[in-house]
This record gives sequence, structure tokens and C-alpha cells, in this order.
Amino acid sequence: MIKSNGAMSKKSIILFTIIALTVQFQSVFAQSSIPHLQKVGDRYQMMVNGKPFLMLAGELGNSTASTMESMRPVWPRLKELNLNTVLIPVYWDLLEPEEGKFDYELVEDLILEARKQQLKVVFLWFGAWKNSMSSHVPAWVKLNQKRFPRAQSSSGESQEILTPFSDNNLKADLNAYHHLLQYIKKVDAAYQTVILMQPENEIGMLPSARDHHPLANQKFQESIPNDLMAYLIKNKPSLNPEFLKIWEQNGFKTTGTWEEVFGSELHTDEIFLAYYFARYTNQVSAAGKKEYALPTYVNAALNRAGKKPGEYPSAGPLPHVLDIWKAAAPSIDFYSPDFYNPNFKQWNDLYVRQNNPLFIPEHSFDNTVAAKALFAIGHYEALGFAPFSIEQIPGKPLSLKEEKLAKVYQIIGQVKTLLDKNRGQNRIEGVLLDKEAREVTFTLGAYEFTAEHTYNLGWEPNSKAEEWEPAGAIIIQTKENEFYYAGFGVSLKMKSLKKSNGFVGILKAERGYFKNGNWIVYQHLNGDQTHQGRHIRSFVDDVTIQRFTLYEYE
Ligand code: DGJ
Repeated sequence: MIKSNGAMSKKSIILFTIIALTVQFQSVFAQSSIPHLQKVGDRYQMMVNGKPFLMLAGELGNSTASTMESMRPVWPRLKELNLNTVLIPVYWDLLEPEEGKFDYELVEDLILEARKQQLKVVFLWFGAWKNSMSSHVPAWVKLNQKRFPRAQSSSGESQEILTPFSDNNLKADLNAYHHLLQYIKKVDAAYQTVILMQPENEIGMLPSARDHHPLANQKFQESIPNDLMAYLIKNKPSLNPEFLKIWEQNGFKTTGTWEEVFGSELHTDEIFLAYYFARYTNQVSAAGKKEYALPTYVNAALNRAGKKPGEYPSAGPLPHVLDIWKAAAPSIDFYSPDFYNPNFKQWNDLYVRQNNPLFIPEHSFDNTVAAKALFAIGHYEALGFAPFSIEQIPGKPLSLKEEKLAKVYQIIGQVKTLLDKNRGQNRIEGVLLDKEAREVTFTLGAYEFTAEHTYNLGWEPNSKAEEWEPAGAIIIQTKENEFYYAGFGVSLKMKSLKKSNGFVGILKAERGYFKNGNWIVYQHLNGDQTHQGRHIRSFVDDVTIQRFTLYEYE
């Protein structure tokens, strides 16, 4: 206690010393273990506050976080959905409304409220680019086009897209981002509420495959930069095949202009611009990391089949130019696909090449997200999953798809410790089933599993429906013969890979939950619930966790 005359008692001096040391320790500790990625076995995991962290997330609609008033009904919704992480934009025009004058109030309020709600935050920097366009740059940038030049189409028409070839554009964007990181560090390093940054958003060029600003045209005539060529030569054996093919078609040339090395086709325009987009974004990311080294990722708007460069947002971190991004942007930790089109598995398979950790920062919030969250986290051991516009219409009762997601996030949260223990060791699998892909086979330990959509069994009322709700599950091997199932709409058949007859029985099956880290049995499953000892399963409306032990018989 402080005495009224200002003198301090012995007790208060000790107390103050303890507080000062704790604060100092907290900030030293926070700095030495800021959120980062860690390799475990053949996979990566996020480490936050010194512990593995799995992002059960959602991304806010674009304008929701522009005032705290608009956010007010959203926070309880995020909790209702069982999120532990929210992806929130930071808008350059609101952060730096006047050049050099930063307004951090909104950013700080968002961090403080998220912390109060026990949510982690991924900040999306809506800086120079947001879905190709430069819609979120401040008015002082928009209105001074001489100083902040725009990209041009092939016909020389100016676009509402800042050109990445201007130093002024880069300096202004980078300066704002670096101030942002400086501020986040100041208010949050001791807490680690903010765990990950996304510099820019869905970078891409439209309506031409490359920028035709005079600064760009000049670079296009120059020789391929040495750093890019050195990277391609060094990494030739592991380059993505679709990119390697383009290089090969032109004879694997190692010197010359862009067109001499890659040919005079549209793909060369895209490769060229990908390099300069990546170089620019790398500098933004690196400037932020210099202040506060939170991990960074860049997201991609996926291109549609049959569209040529320029007809889709080109030169972003798409699979066919990902090698260029990696060469030019060593400061970016990973790349992520945004899903507004089908073929979830096909695209993810392209993104996990070369050990790129998978994180799904955006998926349209439809009735497939619950099953896909299970699949992504099980099959790819993803860092996290986030439906887009997660808040939908707050205040209304949860819709069926929202309820399903909430239940799925709840069970994934429960098995998280099992996921942490078994990550990167081929002991986790995820399945995603629908009317087209009704069955899938995989191996865990000495067992072969066949997972089947439960509608395929024909017993559930909806199995005759035209549309099938996708089903999903995570299966984790915890001992030689012990497994956990977490999911819905999946029926598992097992076969022994050790025994020549392959016969496997269920020794024990339980439905339950985790309480304080202990498995609590809610029901001992047998009879109809295991199809008389044949299958492990839960129906489409039944999001459950089950523990089961297998044995082989003669
Ligand atoms: C992808 C973008 O990254 C999001 O910000 C949003 O615009 C969605 N598309 C679609 O609404």
C-alpha cells in the first residue's frame, strides 16, 4: 500500500519489485516465444503462448469490423459458433486517414475485446490490394495518382489497382503496415491475442495478365533477375510440375529476358508479374516482421478452369506460379487457397506440395463447411479452417449449417490434445464424403479402414434425397489398437493388414467426451449402434466422439 505522505512501506516495495519483475519477465518471455510455426514430424503447427494452437476460425465480412458498434452483436455470435480465432481486416484508409497520422483506436479496441472474449486474432492487411483492387488505400493515395501510380491494362488504360512497380506505392504501404505491427507489438506482445498476419488480400491483376505501366514495361524488357534464376536452378528437382513444364518448353534457359526464358505467351506475363507482386509483398511482410515477427501468409483467389491469365485475377500465389512467389518472398511463411468453387481436395493437394502448411482462411459459408473442417484438419493436419462471413446475421437463431459447424468445432476442440500428440506421425486421417465420393479407403497402423457415407447404407430418412449433405470425420490412432472417431455421417469398416484373413472385430466402443482432459464414457456402444460389432459410425445428424479398440480374429 502507498502511504499518504508518499513514503512506501517495506511490504509495498517488495510488492512493487515483484510486479516490475513479472512485467519484465512477461515481456521478455513474450518476445522470446512470439506466435510461430513449428515443424512436428512431417507437418507444421502453430505455437501460441508456448503451446500448440489449432485455429477453429471464421473470417468476418469485409466491413463488419469497421466500427466497434457494428461488432457489438458479432462477438456473442462468434462464441456461439465455438470459434477460438477470428480473422479481422485492418483497413489502411481507416488506420492512416491522413498521411503519417495513424489512428490505432479501432485496432486496439478489437484486440482488447477479442482478448476479453478469449479469441485469438488473425489480422488481414487490406493495404495496397484487396481482391485485386486498391479499394482500401486512403484518400490521400487515391487522389494523388502522379505520386501513387496505377497499373495499366494492355491497352494502356489505368486501373484502380496500384502498380507494384512504384517505390512510392511500396514505401507508403510498407510504412503503414510496419506502424501497425509496431503497435500490435506494443499492446499485445505480452498476451499474444494476435497470432498471424495476412499482408494484402487476394492479390491479382485484371483485366490483363500483367501490368503495362511504363515502369512495368521497362522491367519486362530486362533480363530475369539473378535471385529468381538462382532459386529456380537450385530448386529445379522439386519445382511444381506445371511450372517446370513451361520452363522446359523453352529449353530450361537460364539467362535472357522474361520472354526469352519463358516464351512469348500470356503465361510469361503472369510469371513476370507474380515475381514483382511477390517481391513487393515480401518487403511489406519483412518490414512488419522487423518490428514484430508474427508469421505471415498470403491468400489466393483460385482461378476457374478454362480461363486465361487476365481473365481471372492473375499472378497471385496460385499453384502454377507458387514457385515464383517462393523465390521472391522468403518472408512469407505459407500460402492459402480461398474457396468459392468446388474441388476442395484437388486444390488443397496442390497447396500442400513442397511442405506448404495448409490453412483455409476463407470458404463460402455453405452446408459443406462442417465436413470440410474435419477433413482439412484430419487429412492435411491443417493449421486451421475459417468459413467466410462467419457472423452472417447475428441475433437470429443459429441455422442448421451454423449449428453443425458449432458442434464440429466443439468436438475438434475436445480432441485437440490427441491431435497435438499425434501430429506429423501418420496417426491422423480425415475423410470427406458426399454423393459423388461415397467411400474412401485409408490405412492407420496395421489396419485398413473403409469409410462410407452413412446415406449409402440407406437407413436414414434423407438418404433418398437428391442432395446429400457432405459427411466428415477425423480418425486418430492413439495406441496400436485404439482409435478415436470424431465426426458425423461416416461408417467405418476395418480390415487387418497383419492377418491373412484380414478379420477385425470391435473389442470395445464408447461414445463420450473429454472433461478436464479425461475421457468420460457417455454410452457403451454395441448392438445396433455398432451394427452388431461390424462398424463404427454416427449418422449425419449425430456429431459425436467415439473411442474404439479393435482386435483380430481367426
Ligand atoms: C474473397 C475475398 O478475399 C473476401 O475479402 C471477400 O471479398 C470474398 N471473396 C467474397 O465476398
